[in-house]
Amino acid sequence: MRQLSLIVVLAWLFVFAALAQSGLSTPSGEQRIDQLLRQMTLDEKIGQLVQYSAGAATGPGTGRTDYPEQIAKGQIGSLLNLTGASKTNAMQRIAVEKSRLKIPLLFGLDVIHGYRTIFPVPLGMASTWDPQLVEQASRVAAKEATAEGIRWTFSPMVDIARDARWGRMVEGAGEDPYLGSIMAAAYVRGYQGTKLNDSDSLAACAKHYVGYGAAEGGRDYNAADISERTLRQIYLPPFHSAVRAGVATVMSAFNTLNGVPAVANAHTLTGILRQEWEFPGLVVSDWKAVAELEAQGIALNGATAASKAMAAGVDMDMESGLYQQHLANLVRSGVIPQAVLDEAVRRVLRVKLALGLFDRPYTPESATEAPKPDAASVQLARQVAQRSLVLLKNDEVSDSPLLPIASNVRTIALVGPFADDAAQMLGSWAGEGDPANVVTLKSALAQRLRQSGGRLLYAKGTEIKSASEAGFEEARNAARQADLTVVTLGEDAPTMTAEAASRAHLDLPGNQEKLLEELVATEKPVVLILFSGRPLALTWAAAHIPAMVEAWYPGIEAGPALVQTLFGDADFSGRLPVSVPRAVGQEPLYYNALNTGRPASGIDLTHPPTTSAEKYVSRYIDEPNTPLFPFGFGLSYTRFSYSPVKLSAGTISAKALNDNSATIQVSTTVTNRGSREGREVVQLYVGQRGTSVAIPVRELEGFKLVPLAPGESQSVEFTLGRDELAFWNIDLHRIVEPAEVTVWVGANSVEGQRGEFEIIE
Ligand code: NOJ
Repeated sequence: MRQLSLIVVLAWLFVFAALAQSGLSTPSGEQRIDQLLRQMTLDEKIGQLVQYSAGAATGPGTGRTDYPEQIAKGQIGSLLNLTGASKTNAMQRIAVEKSRLKIPLLFGLDVIHGYRTIFPVPLGMASTWDPQLVEQASRVAAKEATAEGIRWTFSPMVDIARDARWGRMVEGAGEDPYLGSIMAAAYVRGYQGTKLNDSDSLAACAKHYVGYGAAEGGRDYNAADISERTLRQIYLPPFHSAVRAGVATVMSAFNTLNGVPAVANAHTLTGILRQEWEFPGLVVSDWKAVAELEAQGIALNGATAASKAMAAGVDMDMESGLYQQHLANLVRSGVIPQAVLDEAVRRVLRVKLALGLFDRPYTPESATEAPKPDAASVQLARQVAQRSLVLLKNDEVSDSPLLPIASNVRTIALVGPFADDAAQMLGSWAGEGDPANVVTLKSALAQRLRQSGGRLLYAKGTEIKSASEAGFEEARNAARQADLTVVTLGEDAPTMTAEAASRAHLDLPGNQEKLLEELVATEKPVVLILFSGRPLALTWAAAHIPAMVEAWYPGIEAGPALVQTLFGDADFSGRLPVSVPRAVGQEPLYYNALNTGRPASGIDLTHPPTTSAEKYVSRYIDEPNTPLFPFGFGLSYTRFSYSPVKLSAGTISAKALNDNSATIQVSTTVTNRGSREGREVVQLYVGQRGTSVAIPVRELEGFKLVPLAPGESQSVEFTLGRDELAFWNIDLHRIVEPAEVTVWVGANSVEGQRGEFEIIE
């Protein structure tokens, strides 16, 4: 008996230790929650699970305005979309001074890539392949947002996005689970700081759990069908990484997952998130997703919708109001056990306690309503922007690469609807970003050319979505008079990227491509800078434009970052976190695909099949299979070479790998062969054959950022162990199996020095 109680005590200590580690809970905190739970009425408990938007609607709104009365009665636990310390404090005062138990409100907002200092959109952040920069940027966002009353951000979005038609690809880290996991943890560390209790820590929220990025056809909110193996291998790892990094909250998604809506999915919310991963934080639904269970067909009324979401593990109901309307009856009638309700309330209170809201509910009000980003943050925004730019093409024109812009280029024509549009540079979900703080390409280039005595000819040429060619003549004239034309084209950030912005076409909207063709026809060299929230299928441009840059939406320092990089003061070190398609019909397109029984490797895919060997393979008859630009790709102003790969062993035992008692080292020497400094993103890919299930031909399992001076070499070593080599096998166990393994170390997902080893029993 005594032994049993010792085990129980030890088990409790273990649970507390795990919770404490994530910063979310302490034994004294849990005791305080127990006390509160004892005092709370049923209605007060339910109130903690209710969240409404008190500002701009970021979804179909409820039209409610009676928040103060409800807060005073303890009927609301959290508000979103309310910003500014005076406004949040006003609501907080009601909660803390008028409600019976004085439980503070938690204020949430979509702080996605900055609050006032706007950094590149998340897809651009991922293009840096630099978790430290992402962490620093998120820290800045946290400081700025918490100074204005926000203690909870609905970020990072860690959905894997393999289909560029999906508009929300812009909000995440792209198609790869390894890169996505690294980025997920970096955001969490940055937002949450060293401990949630600090007043400038922002609770993070890993969203949208899970499978939202696999929306069929890339159409937002659409159903997702993902096998359990693919779910675990591809879609879950970034969430797991966020949980391991101590993320305080998770948001459930809108989509159905294998027929079960994510918001009512007990398997993912309770089975995996709570039981397997021991996530101690709170789960919030996405906007009105609880009510959407009716449209999705698994609830005939609001009461059933509320009960299904609650039973599955959603603690807080964002915006639908159904918890508020129905939970009391559901608990009283025993449909929802009291213990389930209490557990949900505990999770909400845990986050509030961890944030220190009970002790410091208010945010000090500053005299400045809309503070400007400070100098250090602007500097960081410039650095991140610079590192997010991906050089896709840089052909030689008159015997040397078109970029960096040569010193004999005196007159530059700057064309296109993005060159002087400050708001576009902010991208979607731009927090409290203010276009007035943006330095556009036009203004940065004008300044640069003023200093160097060069001349800038600016012509907008066309609008983003326009059929009018009225501006073409002016653009052509500018190009004819110039030594070089820089043309800025792309997608309209607010309407064509992020939520509810799926596209069936992946081209340039309006007549932008026509404008590009006209500029090329002037026979002056053209640099194309793309602003987009997804990769665009620009095959014509890739064939006709000598230099192309994918800039995504770079944020407030777009202009200076672009100018410094275009002129070669800084190198291009961004690498693609997504595959760029040749045609929309290739989507979903991702590098880490399974092989087929009839792979097309070695076949000339540039023409329709003419022989049976060319015909009966997995191919398109009208377009090569390959991407226009592969995952991991990006040029630099210098050239890097890789020495042949060295492996520390030729064989390794699966058992030892599974026991974590053995690893294998993969190394190469990278050399900067050019005459300029550069920063290579050295990528490690792994493929395995002979396993119980087919696994992707190549998967990213590591990368390192290697800055190198001209002529400099550096040895780069990766370790492959259980984490890198295990996969979800035929029995759905994550283990290492005997296999033949190929590794590639190189510059992107289609190149690399190759090595092989064997995993034996
Ligand atoms: C709906 C979006 O899907 C989600 O990402 C966002 O956090 C919420 N609205 C709140 O704005």
